[in-house]
Amino acid sequence: MKTLITGGTIVTASDNYKADVLVDGEKIAMIGKDLKAAGAKRINATGKYVIPGGIDVHTHMELPFGGTFASDDFETGTRAAAFGGTTTIVDFAVQGMGEPLEKARDAWLKKARGKAVIDYGLHMIVRDVSDKVLREMETMVKEGVSSFKLFMAYPGVFMVDDASIFKALVRAAEIGGLICMHAENGGVIDVLVKRALAKKNTAPKWHALTRPPEAEGEATGRAFRLAEMAGGVPLYIVHLSATNALEQVRLFRDRGLPAYAETCPQYLFLSVDNYDEPGFDGAKYVMSPPLREKWHQDELWKGLARNDLQVISTDHCPFCMKEGFQGQPKQKELGIGDFSKIPNGAPGVETRMYLTYDGGVVQNRITLNRWVDLTSTTPAKLMGMFPKKGTIAVGSDADIVVWDPRATHTISAKTHHMRVDYNPYEGRKVKGKPVVVMSRGEVIVDKDKFLGRKGRGRFIKRGSPILQT
Ligand code: URP
Ligand code: ZN
Ligand code: ZN
Repeated sequence: MKTLITGGTIVTASDNYKADVLVDGEKIAMIGKDLKAAGAKRINATGKYVIPGGIDVHTHMELPFGGTFASDDFETGTRAAAFGGTTTIVDFAVQGMGEPLEKARDAWLKKARGKAVIDYGLHMIVRDVSDKVLREMETMVKEGVSSFKLFMAYPGVFMVDDASIFKALVRAAEIGGLICMHAENGGVIDVLVKRALAKKNTAPKWHALTRPPEAEGEATGRAFRLAEMAGGVPLYIVHLSATNALEQVRLFRDRGLPAYAETCPQYLFLSVDNYDEPGFDGAKYVMSPPLREKWHQDELWKGLARNDLQVISTDHCPFCMKEGFQGQPKQKELGIGDFSKIPNGAPGVETRMYLTYDGGVVQNRITLNRWVDLTSTTPAKLMGMFPKKGTIAVGSDADIVVWDPRATHTISAKTHHMRVDYNPYEGRKVKGKPVVVMSRGEVIVDKDKFLGRKGRGRFIKRGSPILQT
């Protein structure tokens, strides 16, 4: 099956140019002017951009958290991703305490298989860094799970100590893996949470007040120092929210260390003011790290433009405000009367591409090429999927989005495809929208119509990170 995409402007991380793209089967077969392909299906992309499909390297489908599960599964979440122009995700498997990594990997593959509509990779959340687990990390890398998330927060649940972090950093570098760090000082946060609750400060906004930006800055700096002590090994900070942490990334990059970080749309568009929404609505924004004061947003945009930050992911981890799902009565409401029991996370897998196009490119904060770089190409490189994913090139997977730069729409839970009963950006008007979404040569979204099918997504065996960025 051949498809010819004609008349569009191809946009990659480095170039914009007018050319046709011939897709043959699952791959990009040819790029050039006025291509001919008898019998091929044609897609007219005149006046549109032809970009590599978005790659979201931070999602949590069905994540167990605080007595419930993230409300999107691999079917609903990847379908929503496709509607937003994302054609690959990397989700996080979670190691059970004391359990082999393989068991967690297999459990997540089971959740994804038969459900995912787009391709997916897996990171591994490591909760106990034993000698056995350090050995198992090598098998994981060989089998395509080449990145490992560690937590400096959530004591007693996910948090690991500095010695464990150090050992994991050394090991990851030996075997060609990458450590991804949740950098917040969990010990200090726990003290602040207990003090707030003792004073009957229970409203959602206390989630933010007990997780100050200094706690993120301290942990980020400590993590990079540990990576430096481990021999200057690569380290990737996930969901960076605050200038305090950004300064640490910059410091270590300026020293020539392989320091990387992602931020997420919530930290670019929402702020601590959202916690003051009426009633219990502040719970919509309870995520970790929390939303920050508005002035951080400009600094994060500058960080993205200057390559202090290399990736925009989503940390998609939705929990319903009212309706439960699959018989689960309460999600965010688990924390009524105690902010520390509100499940942490918010939806975003569907809205990342158009929020960042509108807020970034249309508002002149980043160039068109930089947008593609941040949302597709560098994620593919750092997470070991390039050039199979993340670019428009002959031989790459035909994961292609035809993007209409003029289309506008209003974000709303009434029309989104994520399985969650609110949208953090409700009512926001955005310019720019995917009109055709192709995954490995198959059109899976055509305007507002879903043409894919569950289970067509494939597990991607990822390689070692490509670190030149
Ligand atoms: O609040 C968040 N971020 N929930 C998901 C888990 C994590 O730490 O990424
Ligand atoms: Zn995290
Ligand atoms: Zn996360």
